[in-house]
Amino acid sequence: MDPSQDNPIVRFKAFFWALAVFALFGIALGVIALLNRKAPSTLEDVAAVARYENIVAVKSEQAALLSYKEVEPGKTVQVKPADVFAVLGKTLAASKSAAVEKPEQVIPESPTAKALAETAKNAAPVEIVETDANAPIDPAVMEKGKAEYMLCQACHGADGNGVPGLAPPLAGSEWVLGPVENPIRIALRGLTGPIKVKGVDYNLPAPMMAVAHLSDEQLAAVLTYARNSFGNKASAVTPDQVKAFRGEVGAPALQAADLKAPN
Ligand code: HEC
Repeated sequence: MDPSQDNPIVRFKAFFWALAVFALFGIALGVIALLNRKAPSTLEDVAAVARYENIVAVKSEQAALLSYKEVEPGKTVQVKPADVFAVLGKTLAASKSAAVEKPEQVIPESPTAKALAETAKNAAPVEIVETDANAPIDPAVMEKGKAEYMLCQACHGADGNGVPGLAPPLAGSEWVLGPVENPIRIALRGLTGPIKVKGVDYNLPAPMMAVAHLSDEQLAAVLTYARNSFGNKASAVTPDQVKAFRGEVGAPALQAADLKAPN
């Protein structure tokens, strides 16, 4: 061969051919992958996409937050870790894919919780059949309610007199004895913020969480029990009455003002 034609391209011709074929193969694979992109169809895929988008959002938020912030011209302070966690916590809470949330496990402040709050606010008033206030209370329901009351007892006390700093009394409470929808909705959604019970103002550090995991029968029984124990006397609560308010489950905790004013 003419030595003037001896250059690396000629000498390693086979190698460069192989390299070109390899690169073309890679590009072809990429094109196939792009053309094959499908919208997620299963719940798992929806959740995976939501998780991925969430990771990206959290990482960019972290990057933006874990830094120094200019509070006024020329004055820069480091962002407090507590503030960072608060914002990240909200992002995480809001990010759970709506498709995989069940009403009983709706994350506070998530889009689902907000949608439920809107629905609950705009919903037509729920019509319930009032129970005859003079009808005798079924002892079997009281037995069942007493068993379920173990849960409430932790905060409201075995005698229903409440626990200082933890929960207000149920004994003689106008919220327990008044319109039946109040205790039902409190049980299904929880209660937060200041509340007056028997003329005493309570502003407890921790809210009451919803106990919506109990069935309609269990809630009816425990509320019937609370309305007819500790010296209380009021109509029984029926599973149908509880069921009528199930649509509110998952909406944010109620405040006293959201309830029907007791007499
Ligand atoms: C983790 C503690 C806790 C548990 C368990 C609990 N509660 Fe409460 N409950 C509270 C707190 C705290 C409040 C006051 C909420 C507020 O407005 O800040 C409250 C308020 C109430 C009220 C309205 C105010 C009153 O005293 O009448 C009712 C009715 C009630 N709870 C019923 C129940 C019933 C029934 C159960 C069981 C199914 C139960 N709670 C379980 C903590 C609890």
